[in-house]
Amino acid sequence: MKLKRHLVLAMLVLGIAASCRSPGTDGEVLLADRCFGCHSQAEIAETGRSYAGWTHVVNWMKTYGVELTEEEQERLVDYLVDTYGE
Ligand code: HEC
Repeated sequence: MKLKRHLVLAMLVLGIAASCRSPGTDGEVLLADRCFGCHSQAEIAETGRSYAGWTHVVNWMKTYGVELTEEEQERLVDYLVDTYGE
């Protein structure tokens, strides 16, 4: 009985860990998925931008066909500012 309870707990912890890393929720994954088709990482890293600057770029890239939900765009811009901020 005790073993079973531990198994349930382990599955719960693994489930939470997996959901944190699932594609589409992580800014780094979004960048690779939506941007690296046309750009290299070096190109993105070349210029540091503010929150407003990255928002502008991402909105602009949407005119080139990048598809992002509002929530994905927020995560991506947050990631870009954190990683390639001014
Ligand atoms: C379909 C291809 C395509 C995709 C996908 C794409 N881009 Fe671009 N990107 C371009 C093109 C083309 C330009 C050059 C635009 C110009 O200078 O007129 C550009 C320019 C840029 C620039 C330079 C802007 C400047 O001020 O010169 C940045 C930064 C950038 N993209 C970031 C991104 C990011 C971040 C993503 C993902 C959200 C992305 N791109 C996705 C095609 C793409």
